[in-house]
Amino acid sequence: MPQSNNHGSYLLGVNQQELERLQFQHGVWGHVTKKFLGRLNVGNGWRCLDVGAGPGLVSMDLRELVGQTGEVTALDPSQFYLDWLRKQAGDNGWTNVKCIQGTAESADLPPHLYDLIFVRWVIAFVPDPEKFLLPLFNALRPGGIIAIQDYYYEGLSLFPRGGIWDTMPDVVRAYYRSGGGDAYVTGKIPALFRKHGIELTDLTPTCLSGGPTSGVMEWAHRFFSLHIPLMAEKGVISNEQADALTADWNSHRRNPDTVFFSPLVVDVAGIARR
Ligand SMILES: C[S@@+](CC[C@H](N)C(=O)[O-])C[C@H]1O[C@@H](n2cnc3c(N)ncnc32)[C@H](O)[C@@H]1O
Repeated sequence: MPQSNNHGSYLLGVNQQELERLQFQHGVWGHVTKKFLGRLNVGNGWRCLDVGAGPGLVSMDLRELVGQTGEVTALDPSQFYLDWLRKQAGDNGWTNVKCIQGTAESADLPPHLYDLIFVRWVIAFVPDPEKFLLPLFNALRPGGIIAIQDYYYEGLSLFPRGGIWDTMPDVVRAYYRSGGGDAYVTGKIPALFRKHGIELTDLTPTCLSGGPTSGVMEWAHRFFSLHIPLMAEKGVISNEQADALTADWNSHRRNPDTVFFSPLVVDVAGIARR
């Protein structure tokens, strides 16, 4: 049953179906996140903050890396997601996973504490990335790392080309804008780091690709089958465009020679120098 979206304007909403989509998404993209965490050398005893943690899928990976002497705090506005994570922690007897309900902009975070602040697929939804990041910079200990994984919404493509689906990158970017977000947000992060004394240490884009039976195309299907109708409801596209986009997508799904390319997901990391 759908749960209410208890933080109003968040574009994707919060409900059981979205939780399951996030789990599937983690199955497809988790290896990219793990590689990023590997490059960051996350280790025993680290104190980590997972911002916009949702149900804590990255928090759970971080917990394994930091061990019993470390600690992971999941921050999210959604009680529904945090309750789900608390249940996992309770069922598994984890004592080093904490939850804070709130937003990055308004939570009362401890100053200069965290070794790592991780933010996956959140900042593209927020209206003011600088306002979102400033309290996070302040919560990093000197030498602490902020790591962001999010879109630079280029690269999304279906081969063979030539149908209405070629317009989809523009449609998705407009959909993000309709919720106050920016699907190009990772392009802005290096400048924000520079402005606030964070030294950029990693800027790595990833595009995943696969055919109709691949995990990555199924990941896209779970997003687009749900969100194309919502894009029409919001007036980002007309009903006729929605029908044509869905028909083009489905015909590519039936074609064994289709190749799907994901939008770029960019790993951005920086170190707090003051
Ligand atoms: C697409 S989900 C990503 C969840 C998780 N990071 C992951 O990668 O599986 C985005 C999450 O950001 C949260 N969120 C939205 N706006 C936020 C804000 N201003 N501060 C913190 N979290 C926010 C939502 O509640 C949601 O759980």
